[in-house]
Amino acid sequence: MSKMSRSESSPVTVNDILAMKRRGEKIVALTAYDATFARLEDEAGVDIILVGDSLGMVIQGCESTLPVTLDDVIYHTRACSRGVKRALLVADMPFMSYQASIEQALRGAGRCLKEGGAHAVKLEGSARMAETIRRLVEVGIPVMGHIGMQPQMVRIYGGYSLQGKGEADAERIVRDAEAVQEAGAFSLVLEKIPLGLARRITEKIAIPTIGIAAGPDCDGQILVNYDLLGLADQFKFKFVRRYLELAREIRDAVKEYGEDIRSGRFPSAKESFD
Ligand code: KIV
Repeated sequence: MSKMSRSESSPVTVNDILAMKRRGEKIVALTAYDATFARLEDEAGVDIILVGDSLGMVIQGCESTLPVTLDDVIYHTRACSRGVKRALLVADMPFMSYQASIEQALRGAGRCLKEGGAHAVKLEGSARMAETIRRLVEVGIPVMGHIGMQPQMVRIYGGYSLQGKGEADAERIVRDAEAVQEAGAFSLVLEKIPLGLARRITEKIAIPTIGIAAGPDCDGQILVNYDLLGLADQFKFKFVRRYLELAREIRDAVKEYGEDIRSGRFPSAKESFD
């Protein structure tokens, strides 16, 4: 009997993600916000689907992720859960849904699993979130950490700048990685840090690192699906590789649809009922 491809195999668990690092297998992660994209990405063999708070920008048209609410994330996670059969589905905890207290984090993350159908949650935070992560894991909620450039800190940074440039800042980020691992996270997003620092962290910790704008040496990579597909074409980021130019294709298709209506070519007799 032929070996099953990974896209046909059983649902991905957090233990599978940890084992992938031990085997040196790269982890494929991508965001999704609705059932259709989640289904297509799942069918294409993505290992981790993240319902990112980036939905604030690509779905809601906000300038940052800060306005996103827990209800928004739960709504989109629930939609994605209907499209996912195999991938590990991770809900991103939005700004001020977990920072106020450990109790707030427990209640919010619990809702992501119970109401959203998520298998795990992600939260931004350095060593200062370690206790929160520990409590979430203790009650049965797997956590993905997120360090380096943390978009929810945009008002402190004053922009989305590269983090970990100087030795002291790099050391701080290494300590953050160790603290998040020690607290029990099963994986760690490294965002917008120099590639040498990402390599150093990846070699140092046992849990998988998932990079975005962090170079090729992380254990896995993640992108915002709208960037990868060329849907958010108002932005062009150095770290994004566009595999499609969907924005252009959509504009062209919709223009053609409009021309067909205006000229009377749509609908045809075949597209109508007798
Ligand atoms: O919100 C998001 O989409 C993210 C990923 C890009 C890591 O946090």
